[in-house]
Amino acid sequence: MIRHLLSAGDLDRDEAIAILDTAGELARATGRSVKKLPTLRGRTVVNLFYEDSTRTRISFEAAAKRLSADVITFSAKGSSVSKGESLKDTALTLEAMGADAVVVRHSASGAAHRLAMSGWTDCVVVNAGDGTHEHPTQALLDAYTLRHHLSDGAGDLQGRRVVIVGDILHSRVARSNVLLLETLGAEVTVVGPPTLLPVGVEGWPCSVSYDLDNALTGADAVMMLRVQNERMNAAYFPSAREYSRRYGLDRHRAELLAPDGIVLHPGPMNRGMEITAEVADGPRSVVVEQVTNGVHVRMAVLYRLMGALPELESEAGS
Ligand code: CP
Repeated sequence: MIRHLLSAGDLDRDEAIAILDTAGELARATGRSVKKLPTLRGRTVVNLFYEDSTRTRISFEAAAKRLSADVITFSAKGSSVSKGESLKDTALTLEAMGADAVVVRHSASGAAHRLAMSGWTDCVVVNAGDGTHEHPTQALLDAYTLRHHLSDGAGDLQGRRVVIVGDILHSRVARSNVLLLETLGAEVTVVGPPTLLPVGVEGWPCSVSYDLDNALTGADAVMMLRVQNERMNAAYFPSAREYSRRYGLDRHRAELLAPDGIVLHPGPMNRGMEITAEVADGPRSVVVEQVTNGVHVRMAVLYRLMGALPELESEAGS
């Protein structure tokens, strides 16, 4: 059992499957009229968000509350970070307040690792997105969603073809997904303009392509990525229109997928840029389902990391 969740690469196949199975059990257990389990009563989870977030922050908060933990949500905006307080002093403050787990999102790649390994805190650390590096719980919720559609929910993703498209360079979602999907046996292809593929991508455990139509043909799933304009300090493509024409997903392109092929997007979406509204809201889209699954997967992560395992069976069955 791992102590922190910092990278999707921390998870071997058994650990990843165990989290996904736990998420499934928790989804069933909280599908009843009473959504709360008493599992983390008396424990404190701090959401430490130095970067903006809607889905991740809210779903971690919902996940911790459904497990009956006390939740403190800390947003850098409006805190003493704006007065220059360091990550170390913030961590020491949280430790002094008795936090048991810290869910951290930070603009600096490696921030979650630093927090976990520094000795500043004894808390469990969960990486909720660090710079352009990793977003492991997003990869887990994506794998949960893929499993639900492509393997009847129980098996793994052996041999399933998943295409990840767009701004791979700035995407922590892409990095974590490539690592986790490879662990689960999927065949991953990343596609994007050469300027938005990172140096060294050929060393990643996936195929690389610049030809979206070819990669999509017969694939089981496509994951469209947001173009991260806020991380771009140069022109990476000629125009938004040209990007959409070459790398955007419209209805015609989506029809190249396998007959039951699905469309994922981690959100937030740039509708009309990397994905048309017609596809985002269309029958192949599982975007809203991803958000729901995110709560169950994050419950499972907190549940397992915070040492609540032995109680699950009896609670899920009661
Ligand atoms: N997918 C994701 O991380 O979304 P938020 O930035 O809204 O948390």
